[in-house]
Amino acid sequence: MANKYTVRIQGKNSDITVAEDQSILDAALRANEWLPHSCTQGTCGTCKLKVQCGEVRHNESPEYTLTTDERAEGLALGCMATPCSDLTVEPIGGAGDDGVPHFPLRDYEGTVTVLEDIAANTRRLVVEVDTPMLFNAGQYVELIVPGHNVGRQYSLANPPTETRNLEFHVKLTTGGLATDGWIFGPMQVGDRISLRGPLGQFNLVKQQDEAAILIGGGTGLAPLKSIVQHALAERLVPELYLYHGGRRQEDLYDVDFFRDLAQEHEHFHYRPALSEEQWDGAMGMVTDVVLDDFSSCKGMSAYLCGPPAMVEAAVKALKRRRMAPRLIFREEFTIAAPNLAAVVQ
Ligand SMILES: Cc1cc2nc3c(=O)[nH]c(=O)nc-3n(C[C@H](O)[C@H](O)[C@H](O)COP(=O)(O)OP(=O)(O)OC[C@H]3O[C@@H](n4cnc5c(N)ncnc54)[C@H](O)[C@@H]3O)c2cc1C
Ligand code: FES
Repeated sequence: MANKYTVRIQGKNSDITVAEDQSILDAALRANEWLPHSCTQGTCGTCKLKVQCGEVRHNESPEYTLTTDERAEGLALGCMATPCSDLTVEPIGGAGDDGVPHFPLRDYEGTVTVLEDIAANTRRLVVEVDTPMLFNAGQYVELIVPGHNVGRQYSLANPPTETRNLEFHVKLTTGGLATDGWIFGPMQVGDRISLRGPLGQFNLVKQQDEAAILIGGGTGLAPLKSIVQHALAERLVPELYLYHGGRRQEDLYDVDFFRDLAQEHEHFHYRPALSEEQWDGAMGMVTDVVLDDFSSCKGMSAYLCGPPAMVEAAVKALKRRRMAPRLIFREEFTIAAPNLAAVVQ
């Protein structure tokens, strides 16, 4: 049996119990105590905590996210650090209510009901979970790779009203454990799988006055599909622009789905863009297409998702068009920390 420790989080009313082999973030989210976090794999630093009292183990916290100096100052990554004693910690990003309703993190079991190729090296996976999952449009889950005690993050593409049939869009990573070794390998319809969620703070759930530009690269479309459906159903934004970037037509998917939505909703606009193939739609890098379409983005908001390089380029483009940084929200599909270290070396 793992030892358990009591952790006091500054700014929260009650203490939480954390097992010696459990991350502080995992325990807090299961206790429905919201803490800022984004990647849950040690790459973003959003979950940094100051350990005011007690000792933690940093486990696989990478040096590029948590430097030796930061460790010496008592900083830790909430998603990686496990307790070695009772603790008092202070979230660097604040522990306050961000005004969004949050749902507790839970473990789920489910059955694969759909596994289909939808674009080049891209699959749609639908998992029917045994118990409903409540989540915010834009959040993700971790699928647990069978035979390995590791999870990989995949964004939920279904709207939050669909709590049983969870939809994912997965891109093949050659040599990747979860994709090449499982989802594009032995996985079959009917398989039982384990997952945990919901996770992440990328979401659009509140009514807002600003129009929203959504930009997805590749399977970065997944959380945007959930957000689009939710925002249209709840009439959350005055105007909604969805951009999906790919290189060739074979990279695009769900085109008819979004075209139909655009027909139904006057304030929803869908613009797929291709960077490497001539066609009758928008041409160029998706961020350049956005730059061409808007002479100013002042007073607008953005939700960006996909490979980190695309997200960075989009942030730069939107700032050039005078969008306020506080209205730019992003989800980056980073590689899990230990593998990233291997790739960087
Ligand atoms: C918040 C979040 C949401 C995400 N949502 C999605 C989503 O909706 N859809 C999606 O497709 N992806 C998503 N991702 C990415 C996803 O979680 C995985 O990182 C991706 O699918 C690759 O996982 P993998 O296990 O197949 O690859 P990994 O095993 O993690 O390998 C990744 C890369 O590292 C290389 N590598 C691994 N080990 C070594 C080594 N020892 N030496 C050299 N190279 C090595 C692999 O060849 C590969 O190129 C998301 C990521 C995050 C952080
Ligand atoms: S959530 Fe911990 S480093 Fe990203």
